[in-house]
Amino acid sequence: MPLVTTADDGSVKSVKLPRPSNPHGHVRDGALREAVTPWVLANTKHLIVMPNVDPPLKTVEASLTYLGEVERIRDRLGLGTNVLGTLYNHDGITPKMIEQMAATKRIVSVKCYPAKAGMTTGSGQGIPLEQTSDDVLRAAIDNNIVYQVHGEVDTMKDGTPLEPAMRERYYMTDVLPYVRDAHPDLRISVEHGTTVQAVRLVDGDPSGKTVMTITPQHLLFVDDDFMQPWGNDLKCMPILKWPTDRAALIKAATSGDRRFFAGTDTAPHPSRKKRGDFQLAANGCWLPHWISLYTQAFHAAGKLDSVFDDFMSYSFADWMGLPRPEPDDTVLVTCDTAHDIPAPINIEGEDDVVIPLGWTETGNRLRVGFSVRADF
Ligand code: DOR
Ligand code: ZN
Repeated sequence: MPLVTTADDGSVKSVKLPRPSNPHGHVRDGALREAVTPWVLANTKHLIVMPNVDPPLKTVEASLTYLGEVERIRDRLGLGTNVLGTLYNHDGITPKMIEQMAATKRIVSVKCYPAKAGMTTGSGQGIPLEQTSDDVLRAAIDNNIVYQVHGEVDTMKDGTPLEPAMRERYYMTDVLPYVRDAHPDLRISVEHGTTVQAVRLVDGDPSGKTVMTITPQHLLFVDDDFMQPWGNDLKCMPILKWPTDRAALIKAATSGDRRFFAGTDTAPHPSRKKRGDFQLAANGCWLPHWISLYTQAFHAAGKLDSVFDDFMSYSFADWMGLPRPEPDDTVLVTCDTAHDIPAPINIEGEDDVVIPLGWTETGNRLRVGFSVRADF
């Protein structure tokens, strides 16, 4: 159970939870990677770094080199995060490569992006799960490699275009079920699931081979929140959905069903790419305060109990066969309305910053109500 302390009036003062894990974090490369990586590693037990760099990570060698760079930053800072890798799904992946990945014990998954460029940051440089060959998926099953799936398509099978709000729904009802049925032993993680349909798909597989990560922003916000002063910083793909979807996500996350767990999709972009016209703004939320945001969501649901531990710290580790945090390896979340959003971070050599979700210069900010120290 997380250790929750309360004030005399019963309000939550602090929450101590086992060190959480994050199966989905972007750290980029170059100066941006140097700037953001400490924040993505801080307070994290196991992290899968996403291969969404330019060019994408498509070979075992490139992925290992990249992991080495992230580990170099980790070791310099004295952080203990277990950094894991994933390959960008593309048609050059062979069964042999899947075996090589598995042999590294550090590259644990293949990440599938939408097939078309423009659908999200870095999409259109590979193939989606449904175009992956049977022999590669067979090798993944045999070698215990997971498929982490960004499940969206922008047209129906008959060519009818789909609005952003409908893309994941269609994928979950008309695309993924066919792959699921054809490969029932494949371990699939629906990444950043946002819809009623995604929850139903996971619910519909009692084998436990299908799981789903849920971001803090999709637990806390809906499409109307784009009207907030910090609305552009909330823009990510899959796009924020409707109140009925958010309700389904909260229900799944707080149900105690261990197939649903945290995964942030924290995705840094320089502020020049996030400012201005909403339609043109880059997709991705920068979430150095991810633990505080999840705490807020679970507090609002009255579920700061063992279900929170599972969601944040145990379910992903258990599903991957990774060690749980030791009993004394904890993170303290304090109720703190004064400093609840970390400041923007500078990118060295660039006259720009990365802005956390909910932050504005004018002080017209999101109030999270919780904060966590990041020591590095
Ligand atoms: O909003 C998003 N940002 N969704 C993705 O799928 C990719 C990510 C990024 O890399 O910025
Ligand atoms: Zn992502």
